Amino acid sequence: SAKYRAFPALHLSDRRWPDQVIRQSPQWLSSDLRDGNQALVRPMSPTAKLKFFETLVRTGFRQIEVAFPAASQADFDFVRLLIEQKRIPDDVTIQVITQARPELIRRTFEALRGAPRAIVHLYNATSPQFRKLVYRANRSQVVKLASEAAQLMQDLAQQQPETDWRFQYSPESFNATELDFALEMCEAVLDIWQPTPRRKAIINLPATVERCTPNIYADQIEWMHRKLSRRDSIVLSVHPHNDRGTAVAAAELALQAGAERVEGCLFGNGERSGNVDLVTLALNLYTQGVDPGLDFSDLDAIARVATECNGLPIHPRHPYAGELVYTAFSGSHQDAIKKGLAAQIPGDFWQVPYLPLDPQDVGRDYEALVRINSQSGKAGVAHVLQQEFGVILPRVAQIELAEQVQQLADFTGREVGSEELWRLFEQVFLLS
Ligand code: KIV
Ligand code: ZN
Repeated sequence: SAKYRAFPALHLSDRRWPDQVIRQSPQWLSSDLRDGNQALVRPMSPTAKLKFFETLVRTGFRQIEVAFPAASQADFDFVRLLIEQKRIPDDVTIQVITQARPELIRRTFEALRGAPRAIVHLYNATSPQFRKLVYRANRSQVVKLASEAAQLMQDLAQQQPETDWRFQYSPESFNATELDFALEMCEAVLDIWQPTPRRKAIINLPATVERCTPNIYADQIEWMHRKLSRRDSIVLSVHPHNDRGTAVAAAELALQAGAERVEGCLFGNGERSGNVDLVTLALNLYTQGVDPGLDFSDLDAIARVATECNGLPIHPRHPYAGELVYTAFSGSHQDAIKKGLAAQIPGDFWQVPYLPLDPQDVGRDYEALVRINSQSGKAGVAHVLQQEFGVILPRVAQIELAEQVQQLADFTGREVGSEELWRLFEQVFLLS
C-alpha cells in the first residue's frame, strides 16, 4: 500500500487544494496486448503475449484487453488459448474489442465461447471527420449502426449464458466529436444494454488522437459525467493517447473530472506516440498517497518482460523506470541527497531531495545513486567512499581527492568507477 500521505511536502495555504487531488485509484485496463500490440512493427508471438499477460496479472491488473479476435486469426487463436488452457485467474476479466459490424461481432463471440467472464468492447468512429470522409454517413445512420451492433451483442450474449458478460462502448475519436452527438451515441447504446448498478456498462471515451491541452479533454469528460443518464449504472472510462505528450496529465485531470477507469499501456506503448503510460500514472498516484493497487515493487522485472515481449527499449530518463532516474551526477545534488538520506526517518514521509520516491519502493537501489564524474564535488566523492568502502574522509582530504577525481574524469571524459576511485584514494593517501 502507499506509504505516503497526500502532498506531504506541500504547505497547503490554499484551502481549495485538498478537494482537487485524486483520492482513490481508478480501475485499470491494460491494453498492452491489443492497442499496444497493434502498434508494433512486429506483433507479439503467442508465447510473448502469454508471458506479458501473466506479468500483467502478477502486477495486479484485473481487466486486460487481450485481442481484436475478429481482426486476425492470431488474435482469435490467442483468446482461444487463454480460455482452453484455463489461463485466466478467477479475479481477472479479459476484454476483447470489435467494430460495430455484425460479422465481426459474431466472430468475437465465437472466440469467447466458454470464457468464464468477458468484457466485449464495441466501438465505432463518431467524429464529423470520420462520418464525412470515411463512412459517408449522417448522424442518424451512425446511431443506427451502433444500436444494431449493441442489440446483436445482447442477443449473442443470451445464447452463451455460461459466460458472465460485461459490455463496453467507445465512441472512437470521442475528443473530436460534437459533445451532444457523443452523448446521443452513448445513450442509444445504453438504451439497448439497460445496465444496472449491479451490472454496469463501461462507457469509454477515447482521445483517439490527442489534439488539445489536457484541460480541454477533462472538460469534455466532466460534461459527459454530468449529462449521462443512469450514472450509477455506468463506469466512466478514459483512453488517452499521447500525441501531444500530455496523456498522463490528461488522464489525471480526467480522473478529477469524474472518470473512474483508465485504459493504457505499460511504459506508454500504443499507436503512434502511445497510449497513456500506466506505470507513470500509477506511481504518480503512489507518491501522492494513493495506493494504485498495482505492484511495482520490482519495476525492473516488469520492464524486462515488457521490453523482451514488445521489443521497445525504455528510455533511460523514463519517469520512475529509466536507468538514470535515481542517479545524481552533480555535486550539489549528491550533497543534498546524502543529507536527505541521513535525515530520513524510516516509515515517515519520503523527504529526500531530488528523488521523487524511495528507489527501494520500486526495487531500485540507491547504492547506485551517486556516480562520480567531472561534475561531482567533494560530497559525492566522500559519499561513495563511505558507502562502498566504509572510509570516512575528513573535509580537507575530501577536497584533495575530489580534485584528483576531477582531473581524471576531465582527462578520460567519462565517469570514474568506484574501483578507480579506490585506486586514486590509495595513490593519494596510502601509497604516498
Ligand atoms: O484510441 C482509440 O480510439 C481506440 C478505440 C478503438 C477505443 O483504441
Ligand atoms: Zn487507442
